[in-house]
Amino acid sequence: MQLASTYSRALLGIQAPLVHIEVFIGMAKEYFAMVGLPEAAVKESRERVRAAIMNSGFYFPEGNITVNLAPADLPKEGGRFDLGIALGILAASDQIPAQSLRGYECVGELGLTGELRAVRGALTASLGARNAGRSLLVAAGDADEAALVEQSRIYPADHLLSVCAHLRGERMIAPYQRHAAPVVPPTVPDLADVRGQPLARRALEIAASGRHHLLMIGPPGTGKTMLASRLPGILPPMNEAEAIETAAVHSISHEGIKNTQWFMRPFRAPHHTASGVALVGGGSVPRPGEISLAHNGVLFLDELAEFDRRVLDVLREPLETGQITISRAARQADFPARFQLVAAMNPCPQGYDCDLQQHCRCTPQQRQRQQQKLSAPFIDRIDLSIEVVRVGREIFDYDAAPGENTATVRTRVLAAHQRQMARQGKVNSALGQQEINQYCRLKPQDQRLLEQAMERFRLSARAYHRILKVARTLADMSGSHDIETPHLSEALSYRALDRWRGD
Ligand SMILES: Nc1ncnc2c1ncn2[C@@H]1O[C@H](COP(=O)(O)OP(=O)(O)OP(=O)(O)O)[C@@H](O)[C@H]1O
Ligand SMILES: [Mg+2]
Repeated sequence: MQLASTYSRALLGIQAPLVHIEVFIGMAKEYFAMVGLPEAAVKESRERVRAAIMNSGFYFPEGNITVNLAPADLPKEGGRFDLGIALGILAASDQIPAQSLRGYECVGELGLTGELRAVRGALTASLGARNAGRSLLVAAGDADEAALVEQSRIYPADHLLSVCAHLRGERMIAPYQRHAAPVVPPTVPDLADVRGQPLARRALEIAASGRHHLLMIGPPGTGKTMLASRLPGILPPMNEAEAIETAAVHSISHEGIKNTQWFMRPFRAPHHTASGVALVGGGSVPRPGEISLAHNGVLFLDELAEFDRRVLDVLREPLETGQITISRAARQADFPARFQLVAAMNPCPQGYDCDLQQHCRCTPQQRQRQQQKLSAPFIDRIDLSIEVVRVGREIFDYDAAPGENTATVRTRVLAAHQRQMARQGKVNSALGQQEINQYCRLKPQDQRLLEQAMERFRLSARAYHRILKVARTLADMSGSHDIETPHLSEALSYRALDRWRGD
């Protein structure tokens, strides 16, 4: 045998496109070439593969060796193809049976001694292999992640020798069984700690029920950060498809997947000093940013007015489409970014004890400057904006009954969530134009009410649709089939930002 081939997976965004590795060994003068436009990293793999083969007790074939990685135009990062290349060379030189590679894909980097090392993106590679009906050979360190995919067949190994012994039928590797770790919900702070603030609590529950974007405006110390940090506790869990997608993003980030997060919606709270790249993603090898790490979960921007306005404007695209495209020179990667935005800010730059309408110690110019920190199109994308006011005496009254706890609120959120899933298979905030027409119908008198509000607050068509979706969520929360007048008028009441900017 002089020709052998095997399969591996590249990493492109969170996709893992198939790479066909072909190896040919000829009789000509000794050389070792790799074609398929591999980058420097792949060229280095040549040296690793040679050393690994020899240090594992195999011989490195003489003659001309040509390795072709196809398709040629894929970015091929790092050493993930090492294992495939080594197996191809061993098969082409009859040191392992070539037909034994059939039915397998492999990803893994080789050390000089032949040890097998974990790579990024094992989850997506596993997904690809399963969908193609093949088993996956990976480093032992990647097995747990790869085995998250249902019905996958994962063969972990820590050395090239173990892989070869398996393929030769000498010492079989047992398919990896994932120990389904019990999902331990991380300890999140409880809503019972929040005193008073009925409006903000209600808005938080609506946001959780329909996955709506929420902005809280209010003076310092009123509990905005406190409320937002209690959102993860009341969110419905992810379904399996969502969990896989979210895990895939984390899998290719610097952070990797943490087992306890499985099915838990991510909650990301980047600081306002975070760079644009940290927030939206980027780099020469594009990596996901905070907005993608928050995919299917929450992106919490505390002190919203402190964020660079240009950075916030970059969020406009993902807020609409649920994904972000990162272009770097010749490369482009799409990352999912369907996050729920929750933000908090003070109404004035001084952080005085101001409220949105009357009581304010700062000048109109100062207030205006604060308002202008957010662009109109950005604001337009926020479904619920509320004013968080100073708590009254209840904060001192330690004998008063505590507020409703997280478990109680979560039960209601789950019920409203299930109603949406049963009706339309998605949350209300994700409804498209057609679906809005179908599921968010208003009675004629309510239609007039909404039109008047549009006039009065000079609302855009986008705001119009967002109000309808919030009204739909309110109807679902009350178990109502149709949107009734109180649902619409309540939805209209969460427009503090329009009033503020319009004053
Ligand atoms: N409604 C409340 N119930 C109980 N404690 C509260 C409430 N509001 C504020 N507190 C207390 O005040 C602290 C500060 O609240 P928090 O940090 O949430 O305020 P904030 O609105 O985010 O302020 P800032 O605008 O300065 O960021 C909380 O840690 C909590 O101890
Ligand atoms: Mg705060």
